[in-house]
Amino acid sequence: MNNFLQYNPTKLYFGEGQIKQIPNEIGQGAKVLVVYGGGSIKKNGVYEDVMQQLEKLEVVVHELSGVEPNPRLTTVRRGVEICKEEGIDFLLAVGGGSVIDCTKAIAAGAASEADAWELITQEVPIEKALPIGTVLTLAATGSEMNAVSVITNWETKDKLGWGSPHVYPTFSILDPTYTFSVPENQTVYGIVDSMSHALEHYFHRTANTPMIDGFIESLLRTAIQTGPKLIDNLESYEHRETMMYLSTTAFNGTLMNGTDGGDWATHRIEHAVSAIYDIPHGGGLAILFPNWLEHVLEEDPTRVKQLATNVFDIDAAGKTDAEVAREGAKALRHFWNSLGAPNTLQDYDITDEAFNDIVEKTFIKPGVGTYKEMNRETVLDILCRSL
Ligand code: NZQ
Ligand code: ZN
Repeated sequence: MNNFLQYNPTKLYFGEGQIKQIPNEIGQGAKVLVVYGGGSIKKNGVYEDVMQQLEKLEVVVHELSGVEPNPRLTTVRRGVEICKEEGIDFLLAVGGGSVIDCTKAIAAGAASEADAWELITQEVPIEKALPIGTVLTLAATGSEMNAVSVITNWETKDKLGWGSPHVYPTFSILDPTYTFSVPENQTVYGIVDSMSHALEHYFHRTANTPMIDGFIESLLRTAIQTGPKLIDNLESYEHRETMMYLSTTAFNGTLMNGTDGGDWATHRIEHAVSAIYDIPHGGGLAILFPNWLEHVLEEDPTRVKQLATNVFDIDAAGKTDAEVAREGAKALRHFWNSLGAPNTLQDYDITDEAFNDIVEKTFIKPGVGTYKEMNRETVLDILCRSL
């Protein structure tokens, strides 16, 4: 194992009814900006629950609605403006990863003289941010308990992941009943995204990590057992709570303890695809990740074979490592497709027309892939396999 620091300052309130903790977490007299998306929280009652709690406090409440899935820089800038004009001192994100990511960027932008894009591209260092709380409504990204955010600059068609320890949420409310209304397709994307986070952590090159490897394998097996049952019964508390805890754990730092952090090449490629085509993140990963596995196992099947046997129970008897690994990659693809996830880029009407652009945008920051270091040709290979 490598030396590591385990640090995560986000207080997690998990379970039904935890919304009642809001008055204990936001100070009296605060000027709060409530940030949310396209209106799902008004249909499922979450908005009302949040406002009821805020009414218990002497706080001034402002709102920013309409945060897009794959949140846009323009919306971040709108939020920063409101914060500066109104003297906002606390941000409450109510939604999925997009709302939380947008709120993180607003928090950094509001505490700086620089433009938000300069902070996101890290041309200007982030030295502080307004405090953030979150009420999570979609289990997928882990944004509720990490310091990461992904913002799209639609003018330049760049989608950039960035992070800063200043944007960890101070608290997050995870009430599984708030995810009952997540539609089937978004539920599937959430399962794919959280499994992809676990998988990308799994592809590290650090020796002697049996505890973390086993933890990741257990998380993946849990997703495989729970996913189909959840899709059959979207309002099952039991399955929603399992997926909610799973998705948070898949990307809150835990799975990196003692390793080199894993290989996030597929995320980089997916962000480049959705920068141009605005597709759902989990849908893009479902297409790309099995092809990354196929690409990797052709060079060295060892790790994919371990995944195949330990997670997908592929019988290795009488087979070569490459055969076992290939069956594992197929099993993953088959599992995601069986839930209803897309299989090829054509499912989103994407042709090879913009492949060169996608390759360039994948390298918007240098260094793509660690387990398998990618170059322009290898990224193109994965895109071609995904057609
Ligand atoms: O906008 P509203 O009306 O809220 O509707 C949303 C949106 O249309 C809807 N939704 C959310 N909760 C709901 C609900 N509908 C009904 N009932 C509910 N309870 O679902 C749609 C998708 O929401 P979004 O927030 O976009 O989904 P997700 O949580 O998957 O977030 C995706 C974004 O996060 C980024 C992705 O790239 C993408 O931009 N990521 C962020 C990461 C992070 N911060 O750590 C890591 C990830 O790898 C990922 O890249
Ligand atoms: Zn992701």
